[in-house]
Amino acid sequence: MAVLPILIYPNKTLKIPSSKVPQVDENISLLIKNMTETMYDHKGCVGLAAPQVGYNLRIMVVDASKHKKTTLCHNLIVFINPVITKKEGAIIIREGCLSVPDYTGNVKRATKVTVNGLDGNSNPQEITTEGFEAIVLQHEIDHLDGYLFIDRVASLKRDIFRRKKYQ
Ligand code: NI
Repeated sequence: MAVLPILIYPNKTLKIPSSKVPQVDENISLLIKNMTETMYDHKGCVGLAAPQVGYNLRIMVVDASKHKKTTLCHNLIVFINPVITKKEGAIIIREGCLSVPDYTGNVKRATKVTVNGLDGNSNPQEITTEGFEAIVLQHEIDHLDGYLFIDRVASLKRDIFRRKKYQ
Protein backbone atom coordinates (compact mmCIF):
# COMPACT_ATOMS: atom_id res chain seq x y z
CA MET A 1 0.00 0.00 0.00
CA ALA A 2 1.06 3.55 -0.58
CA VAL A 3 0.05 7.12 0.10
CA LEU A 4 -0.44 8.75 -3.30
CA PRO A 5 0.35 12.37 -4.18
CA ILE A 6 -2.71 14.64 -4.47
CA LEU A 7 -3.25 16.64 -7.64
CA ILE A 8 -3.92 20.31 -6.98
CA TYR A 9 -6.16 22.70 -8.91
CA PRO A 10 -5.73 23.75 -11.76
CA ASN A 11 -4.35 20.33 -12.76
CA LYS A 12 -6.21 19.23 -15.90
CA THR A 13 -6.96 15.71 -14.67
CA LEU A 14 -9.30 17.23 -12.08
CA LYS A 15 -11.40 18.80 -14.85
CA ILE A 16 -11.91 15.71 -17.04
CA PRO A 17 -15.07 13.59 -16.65
CA SER A 18 -13.92 10.13 -15.52
CA SER A 19 -14.66 6.81 -17.23
CA LYS A 20 -16.67 3.96 -15.77
CA VAL A 21 -14.64 1.10 -14.36
CA PRO A 22 -15.33 -1.88 -16.66
CA GLN A 23 -14.27 -4.52 -14.15
CA VAL A 24 -12.62 -4.66 -10.77
CA ASP A 25 -9.25 -6.31 -11.35
CA GLU A 26 -6.07 -6.42 -9.26
CA ASN A 27 -4.99 -2.95 -10.40
CA ILE A 28 -8.32 -1.41 -9.41
CA SER A 29 -8.24 -3.19 -6.04
CA LEU A 30 -4.75 -1.84 -5.38
CA LEU A 31 -5.80 1.67 -6.42
CA ILE A 32 -8.73 1.48 -3.96
CA LYS A 33 -6.41 0.34 -1.14
CA ASN A 34 -3.99 3.16 -1.91
CA MET A 35 -6.78 5.74 -2.14
CA THR A 36 -8.10 4.61 1.25
CA GLU A 37 -4.65 4.86 2.80
CA THR A 38 -4.17 8.29 1.22
CA MET A 39 -7.51 9.51 2.62
CA TYR A 40 -6.63 8.32 6.14
CA ASP A 41 -3.16 9.84 5.87
CA HIS A 42 -4.65 13.34 5.62
CA LYS A 43 -6.05 14.33 8.97
CA GLY A 44 -9.64 15.56 8.64
CA CYS A 45 -10.02 14.15 5.12
CA VAL A 46 -13.45 12.54 4.70
CA GLY A 47 -13.35 11.52 1.06
CA LEU A 48 -11.17 11.05 -1.98
CA ALA A 49 -11.94 10.54 -5.68
CA ALA A 50 -9.63 8.77 -8.15
CA PRO A 51 -8.99 11.88 -10.33
CA GLN A 52 -7.41 13.53 -7.27
CA VAL A 53 -4.64 10.93 -7.41
CA GLY A 54 -4.31 11.03 -11.19
CA TYR A 55 -6.79 8.40 -12.40
CA ASN A 56 -9.81 9.43 -14.44
CA LEU A 57 -11.85 6.47 -13.23
CA ARG A 58 -15.20 6.50 -11.41
CA ILE A 59 -13.93 5.37 -8.01
CA MET A 60 -14.25 7.11 -4.67
CA VAL A 61 -13.69 6.39 -1.00
CA VAL A 62 -15.51 8.14 1.85
CA ASP A 63 -15.28 7.93 5.62
CA ALA A 64 -17.20 10.61 7.49
CA SER A 65 -17.20 8.75 10.81
CA LYS A 66 -14.67 11.02 12.56
CA HIS A 67 -16.22 14.33 11.53
CA LYS A 68 -18.10 16.38 14.10
CA LYS A 69 -20.91 17.32 11.68
CA THR A 70 -21.68 13.68 10.86
CA THR A 71 -25.00 12.26 12.02
CA LEU A 72 -25.86 9.20 9.90
CA CYS A 73 -22.74 7.32 8.86
CA HIS A 74 -21.64 4.12 7.09
CA ASN A 75 -17.95 4.31 8.13
CA LEU A 76 -15.70 3.42 5.17
CA ILE A 77 -17.59 3.50 1.88
CA VAL A 78 -15.91 2.37 -1.34
CA PHE A 79 -17.95 3.27 -4.41
CA ILE A 80 -17.25 2.25 -7.99
CA ASN A 81 -19.34 3.82 -10.78
CA PRO A 82 -21.59 5.67 -8.30
CA VAL A 83 -24.77 7.33 -9.56
CA ILE A 84 -27.12 9.53 -7.51
CA THR A 85 -30.53 7.96 -8.03
CA LYS A 86 -32.50 10.09 -5.58
CA LYS A 87 -32.00 13.43 -3.89
CA GLU A 88 -34.05 15.50 -1.49
CA GLY A 89 -33.86 18.86 0.19
CA ALA A 90 -31.28 21.63 -0.12
CA ILE A 91 -28.65 23.14 2.13
CA ILE A 92 -25.82 25.64 1.68
CA ILE A 93 -22.69 24.26 3.33
CA ARG A 94 -19.02 25.29 3.59
CA GLU A 95 -16.78 22.77 1.78
CA GLY A 96 -13.09 22.22 1.42
CA CYS A 97 -11.01 19.87 -0.73
CA LEU A 98 -7.47 18.46 -0.65
CA SER A 99 -7.13 19.53 -4.30
CA VAL A 100 -8.03 23.16 -3.48
CA PRO A 101 -5.97 23.49 -0.30
CA ASP A 102 -6.06 27.26 0.23
CA TYR A 103 -9.81 27.90 -0.01
CA THR A 104 -13.22 26.86 1.25
CA GLY A 105 -16.53 27.65 -0.39
CA ASN A 106 -20.29 27.77 0.18
CA VAL A 107 -21.98 25.15 -1.97
CA LYS A 108 -25.63 24.16 -2.38
CA ARG A 109 -26.20 20.43 -1.90
CA ALA A 110 -29.10 18.03 -1.40
CA THR A 111 -29.64 17.07 2.25
CA LYS A 112 -30.44 13.42 1.52
CA VAL A 113 -29.25 11.20 -1.34
CA THR A 114 -29.46 7.63 -2.54
CA VAL A 115 -26.40 6.45 -4.44
CA ASN A 116 -26.18 3.25 -6.47
CA GLY A 117 -23.07 1.60 -7.82
CA LEU A 118 -20.64 -1.16 -6.90
CA ASP A 119 -18.70 -1.72 -3.71
CA GLY A 120 -14.98 -2.53 -3.63
CA ASN A 121 -15.69 -6.20 -4.33
CA SER A 122 -17.77 -5.40 -7.39
CA ASN A 123 -21.07 -6.19 -5.65
CA PRO A 124 -24.07 -3.90 -6.21
CA GLN A 125 -24.32 -1.29 -3.48
CA GLU A 126 -27.06 1.18 -2.63
CA ILE A 127 -26.54 3.73 0.12
CA THR A 128 -29.12 6.20 1.34
CA THR A 129 -27.78 8.80 3.71
CA GLU A 130 -28.29 12.35 4.86
CA GLY A 131 -26.52 15.29 6.40
CA PHE A 132 -22.74 15.55 6.24
CA GLU A 133 -22.14 12.08 4.76
CA ALA A 134 -24.63 12.84 1.94
CA ILE A 135 -22.73 16.05 1.20
CA VAL A 136 -19.39 14.22 1.04
CA LEU A 137 -20.85 11.70 -1.42
CA GLN A 138 -22.08 14.55 -3.66
CA HIS A 139 -18.70 16.31 -3.46
CA GLU A 140 -16.81 13.15 -4.47
CA ILE A 141 -19.22 12.31 -7.32
CA ASP A 142 -18.65 15.86 -8.59
CA HIS A 143 -14.92 15.02 -8.81
CA LEU A 144 -15.80 12.07 -11.08
CA ASP A 145 -17.64 14.48 -13.39
CA GLY A 146 -14.72 16.94 -13.46
CA TYR A 147 -16.24 19.46 -11.05
CA LEU A 148 -14.68 21.03 -7.97
CA PHE A 149 -16.55 22.90 -5.24
CA ILE A 150 -15.31 26.16 -6.75
CA ASP A 151 -17.40 25.31 -9.84
CA ARG A 152 -20.49 24.99 -7.65
CA VAL A 153 -20.46 28.28 -5.73
CA ALA A 154 -23.14 30.82 -6.60
CA SER A 155 -20.67 33.73 -6.52
CA LEU A 156 -16.86 33.56 -6.80
CA LYS A 157 -16.76 36.89 -4.96
CA ARG A 158 -19.04 36.13 -2.01
CA ASP A 159 -18.81 32.36 -1.59
CA ILE A 160 -15.07 31.57 -1.71
CA PHE A 161 -12.95 32.05 1.40
CA ARG A 162 -9.22 31.85 2.01
CA ARG A 163 -8.42 29.20 4.59
CA LYS A 164 -7.19 30.50 7.92
CA LYS A 165 -6.34 27.16 9.43
CA TYR A 166 -5.55 23.70 8.11
CA GLN A 167 -6.69 20.50 9.78
NI1 NI B 1 -12.55 17.20 -3.03
